[in-house]
Amino acid sequence: MVELSPSVLACNFSHLQEDLNQLKNTDVKYLHLDIMDGIFVPNISFGFGVIKDIRQANNFIFDTHLMIEEPIRYIDKLKEVGADLVTVHYEACKDLKATINYIKEKKMKVGLSLKPKTDIEKLFTYLKDIDLVLVMSVEPGFGGQSFMDSSLDKVKKLRRYIDENKTNTLIEIDGGIKTSNLKKVVDYGVDIVVSGSDIFGKDDIKSQVDKYYEIFKS
Ligand code: DX5
Ligand code: ZN
Repeated sequence: MVELSPSVLACNFSHLQEDLNQLKNTDVKYLHLDIMDGIFVPNISFGFGVIKDIRQANNFIFDTHLMIEEPIRYIDKLKEVGADLVTVHYEACKDLKATINYIKEKKMKVGLSLKPKTDIEKLFTYLKDIDLVLVMSVEPGFGGQSFMDSSLDKVKKLRRYIDENKTNTLIEIDGGIKTSNLKKVVDYGVDIVVSGSDIFGKDDIKSQVDKYYEIFKS
């Protein structure tokens, strides 16, 4: 079964918990949290204090997406505020192996992400050591951008590699997902879909989430 990881970045922060409450009687298990440092990407989002507060009021699997240089510096902090899954960027780590190992040592799941211009083959050697690959289908940094079809070719190559080598790695896709392109994306074999503006930008968040799960089940 495919899962949705709604992206908090698209919430209205003046009534954040009200938005999140609308996920509570749905099938949603994951919550996507984008952390940006203004250096790896040209934007700044929110920090650890916000994640800690959200954690106290919500039981989702906290799917953190670190768009920051040298994320190894913040792994302890993420553990402290309650992250379950920590996804770092291939392009952002000087010592990727050490970063992966440190996240594991802290007993969190490990994800590896890549920007649209990075070749998917570069990640293959790490697949046996990680839990998830996050394929970016927009340039990281902002919500509300258009889906890049070139990401589907990456999903296809990744799906084939994972199935042939039985690495069991999950495939997550992030950026520009809407109900209109969801079916096509799911058919390429992703396991988790991130969606921000197409979920929290709607007046009725709960019924929009239900539409996603109807498509997953179809
Ligand atoms: C972009 C972030 C995404 C973003 C997706 O850098 O990684 O998670 O919130 O937003 P939408 O679904 O609006 O493209
Ligand atoms: Zn993200």
